[in-house]
Amino acid sequence: MFLLKKCLFVIAMYIVPLSLLANEVEISTKNSSFVLSAPIDQQLRFEYYGAKLVAADKNFIAQNGLSLDYYPAFGVYNNASHAIQVTHADGNMSLELVVKGVETYREGDCLITKITTKDKVYPFWVTHYFKTYYENDLIETWTEIKHAEKQDVVLFKAFSANFYITGSNQHILRLAGEFINEAGLYEFPLQYGIYSISNKEGIRNTHSDNPSFMISFDGPLHENKGNVIGASLAYTGNYKLMFDKRKNITYRKVVKEQVNIVAGYNEEASHYFLSPNENFVTPKLLLTFSDKGKGQVSRNFHKWALKDGGMYGANNVSDILLNSWEGVYFDVNQDNMSEMMKGFSEIGGELFVMDDGWFGSKYPRNDGSTSLGDWMVAQGKLPHGIKGLLDAANKNKVKFGIWIEPEMVNTKSELYEKNPSWIIQLPNRETIKGRGETQVTLDLSNPKVQDHVFKVVDDLLGNFPNIEYIKWDVNHYLTNYGSNYLPKNKQSHLYLAYHRGLESVLKRIRDKYPNVVMQSCASGGGRVNYGYLKYFDEFWTSDNTDAFHRIYIQWGTSQFYPAKGMASHVSAEKNHQTGRVIPLKFRFDVAMSGKLGMEMKPSDFTESDKLVAKKSIETYKKIRPLVQFGDLYRLVSPYVNNGNAALMYVNDEKTEAVFFAYNPRLSKGGHLERVVLNGLDSNKTYQITELNETDYLPKQRENPRFVNTVLSGEFLMKYGVDVNFINNFEYGSIIVHIKEK
Ligand code: DGJ
Repeated sequence: MFLLKKCLFVIAMYIVPLSLLANEVEISTKNSSFVLSAPIDQQLRFEYYGAKLVAADKNFIAQNGLSLDYYPAFGVYNNASHAIQVTHADGNMSLELVVKGVETYREGDCLITKITTKDKVYPFWVTHYFKTYYENDLIETWTEIKHAEKQDVVLFKAFSANFYITGSNQHILRLAGEFINEAGLYEFPLQYGIYSISNKEGIRNTHSDNPSFMISFDGPLHENKGNVIGASLAYTGNYKLMFDKRKNITYRKVVKEQVNIVAGYNEEASHYFLSPNENFVTPKLLLTFSDKGKGQVSRNFHKWALKDGGMYGANNVSDILLNSWEGVYFDVNQDNMSEMMKGFSEIGGELFVMDDGWFGSKYPRNDGSTSLGDWMVAQGKLPHGIKGLLDAANKNKVKFGIWIEPEMVNTKSELYEKNPSWIIQLPNRETIKGRGETQVTLDLSNPKVQDHVFKVVDDLLGNFPNIEYIKWDVNHYLTNYGSNYLPKNKQSHLYLAYHRGLESVLKRIRDKYPNVVMQSCASGGGRVNYGYLKYFDEFWTSDNTDAFHRIYIQWGTSQFYPAKGMASHVSAEKNHQTGRVIPLKFRFDVAMSGKLGMEMKPSDFTESDKLVAKKSIETYKKIRPLVQFGDLYRLVSPYVNNGNAALMYVNDEKTEAVFFAYNPRLSKGGHLERVVLNGLDSNKTYQITELNETDYLPKQRENPRFVNTVLSGEFLMKYGVDVNFINNFEYGSIIVHIKEK
């Protein structure tokens, strides 16, 4: 850190002639520097974000940094994109923020830099926080806003952070998709003008867009080389990440071409009446930089999620689970649940999760049109209640988990009949309903509703402490933007207030039930981001369980999120979403590169399927620590090669790794012949062995498999491994265990 505090700035400015460094604040991690200049009573300015600076470079940046307004405010200078816009109590629409102080302090292993700015005239403060996770090269940044004016100030927008990059050929990588086609990977050059990644669904926020991106400084992104910044907004609600690329937007210094990047909650329809002394906290933006390409950027995010608390329960090994949904859908009963538990236990499964269809008294849940809100067992289906299910789980030696969707209610439910005003709805208009034409959303801005949602979970876990897992689903987006709870003049708070309410409920649950494992699900991958992962141990990656599609979906998701969180389930032979028929080994081999689970009736297995499943589960138990805690190296992208893909996970010590290769298509060109590995130690010698090989596939195995083959790390990372024998048939795949000899 070359940070000097407020008083030193002042002294330095007058006494030391070569004082340019005195104003610089370097927020540094092991391999990166983020530099601002913070002269007291002057504008806070962004200077640099990139590779770690050494002393000489710091001098240079102090004199030649970008010097661009770090947090542009609307009002005085209006030619750039703004990070904040307000209307003061007296109607004045401007802010002119200047630095009032810089502080650093420790929080655990992290260093926090706090920079306070204040309007030149009004009692209005904007404070920026930068928390560094040094070893994992990650900076968490957010902004807090406060005022002491006589009446409310209207906050029209207030982003979490703002920074710039220059150069001429920036490329962006982002995820985009839709329900059952999430996390598509898109990479393209950034053009002039404004480009934004945003979400307005209100409740679930990652089916179509994920609040994450990577940006290269110059030219296309590469897996293992090049300067790349990665960013991800940890927020459960609507967001906006905006890139404003233009020439000469600055008014202080002529920079030929620059990209101004702002990120935070989506301000649309969300103007906020900020009371005097209320602290408005923006969502946290995660930033990481690597000069070693996007692979390292992904690993920085993963490591942070696993080691720095970015993802809940990240230290625990995840169980292999069977979820009942694609096996029986709503047709849940004691017999089929017990049968699934038994079948799963026989092949080595560890946790059984009962999905939708188990609840509702007056209106038993048989489809999506009734019962949400009535979280009591449907007696007709489960006469022995949850106790009966727990007994069956105990008997079959599997843990037990349960599905809920507590933020939602059907208009055909006892809860709605008792509390019709608890839902989000507009006065004077018919309420638009979702699933089953009866699904509506509970208004979590209302503290009574928050208590109710907490109680749903508290009752289940309090009465049945042996429930070890909750699948928390949400199958609607926010329609009918109106709250019966918020006052008439604060209806525009709803988007923000909903998520404050939700987070407060999740915090209460985590305080009381720290050990229950929770999955974040929203019609599949609608809640895959670090805003949720603060409370959830994992996410349901997609409702699409087709292993061919999953190669792509998991590849995209892995850009920002670790395999430990990525629930990957094996489902029926003829896939329910796509109708594609894929051999069981391939389905397992794909699911095993994430957090393995199943989504089908084990009783549908033939005897030989059972053997494949049993062996796969056994294999996964062996490689699970590598997949769930190792470093991911993506080797061959399915986007380049007709779905052919290869990846591997390596442990911290580089003594052990697991390699996966997939060849889904029998095509004339583009198949995998040899794959060059990565992430190993070139000075070590490794023994490599194929795992999970099966004999039930066509006779494809004329070429030798790896049977305790010994090779050097150098050879594996230069020449690679031959995998051509998986090309002779459709859906060839291989898993290879690599261990230091
Ligand atoms: C949507 C989820 O994504 C599915 O896995 C399943 O839980 C259904 N909802 C249940 O209604």
